Amino acid sequence: MSKFGWNEKMALGIESIDREHQKLFEMIDQLQKAMTKGQSSSALGQIFAGLIDYTNNHFGHEARLFEELGYENRAAHLAKHDLFTDKMAVLKSQFDAQSNFMIGVDVMNFLNDWLIEHVMGEDRKYLPLFNKNGVK
Ligand SMILES: [Fe+2]
Ligand SMILES: [Fe+2]
Repeated sequence: MSKFGWNEKMALGIESIDREHQKLFEMIDQLQKAMTKGQSSSALGQIFAGLIDYTNNHFGHEARLFEELGYENRAAHLAKHDLFTDKMAVLKSQFDAQSNFMIGVDVMNFLNDWLIEHVMGEDRKYLPLFNKNGVK
């Protein structure tokens, strides 16, 4: 079994958000599997770009809810999203610039660990507000 992927402990109980988190973990897992199988760099690049896209999409969703509900911890939370987005952009440009660039184990671990920590730490903090406002 792959160590990359969703598990029940990460569920926040908000369906739309859980679905997006689950998808992000699936995409990391997909990238990992594609690498292990030695797929072409254009195939890897596409999965990587998809992951970045979907991450931005998800972060945008959270940001809109923060704005709408006046989340007090919004600035700190969004700063964490930005750091992650920046880091992914750097990795993607390294990947694009070098045809032999490998997305190594450390990068995969970084993506996976960051996401687990963020979902179970930072994201969990908005639960009381989201639940109070009936976010589904
Ligand atoms: Fe999230
Ligand atoms: Fe978040």
